[in-house]
Amino acid sequence: MEISAALATRKSIRAFSDRPVSVDIVKEILQLAARAPSGSNLQPWHVYGLMGQAREELIRRVKSKLAQLPRGESPEYHIHPPNLSDPYKSRYFRAAGLMYGAIGISRDDMAARQRHLAKNWEFYGAPVGLIFTIHRQMEPGQWADLGMYMQSAMLLARGYGLDTCAQEAWALWPKTLRECLSIPDHEMVVCGMALGHADTQAPVNGFASERVPFEEYATILDNIEPEN
Ligand SMILES: Cc1cc2nc3c(=O)[nH]c(=O)nc-3n(C[C@H](O)[C@H](O)[C@H](O)COP(=O)(O)O)c2cc1C
Repeated sequence: MEISAALATRKSIRAFSDRPVSVDIVKEILQLAARAPSGSNLQPWHVYGLMGQAREELIRRVKSKLAQLPRGESPEYHIHPPNLSDPYKSRYFRAAGLMYGAIGISRDDMAARQRHLAKNWEFYGAPVGLIFTIHRQMEPGQWADLGMYMQSAMLLARGYGLDTCAQEAWALWPKTLRECLSIPDHEMVVCGMALGHADTQAPVNGFASERVPFEEYATILDNIEPEN
């Protein structure tokens, strides 16, 4: 698949079919993705691939805690800045509005929103779940490297006819993930990802996310006044 086609067709999928994905393909994606660049080639990513019973067990453990902790445990980092300002705040509301609109959940139906949030913790039905961690000593540059690894995996997945959804919602379960996957103390849970075949009929997959106009995020300079 052309890279531009992989980019153009990648979108966050939030309902998957139960069609299995072979472990060989999962390994291929996760191995090829490591060709992603990283500052000084630190390759600061770590990924846990969950399939079959391992995936089931993680989902079961989270589900058993949901009644007491409907919004998860305390994350180990701020998933969003504490006082998210505009234009980011508005984009956040707009994205949420589009998604909940696609599945007919109104803004004030908190119970339905909560049920939808909890679907994250079933990997939206995908047969493969990925959990990404990073060493605690790492700084923003290395978090960016991890993001490049994740995006590489998402684009490679398209080449295999697979879909994905990055899931920071998994960062809400650091304790449970640590226990269940035997994650060492020096690693921090950053993000999860669902990987599988999209359920093409599901309404939640039936909307397109927006992007702000080019001029809002890009500054092209071709003439700077020389300093006197
Ligand atoms: C790092 C990261 C974390 C995300 N976490 C979640 C998540 O927890 N749950 C979810 O449904 N979508 C999640 N998303 C998907 C974003 O909402 C989505 O990328 C954005 O709205 C743009 O839509 P698109 O991916 O379809 O282009 C995440 C995306 C990224 C890059």
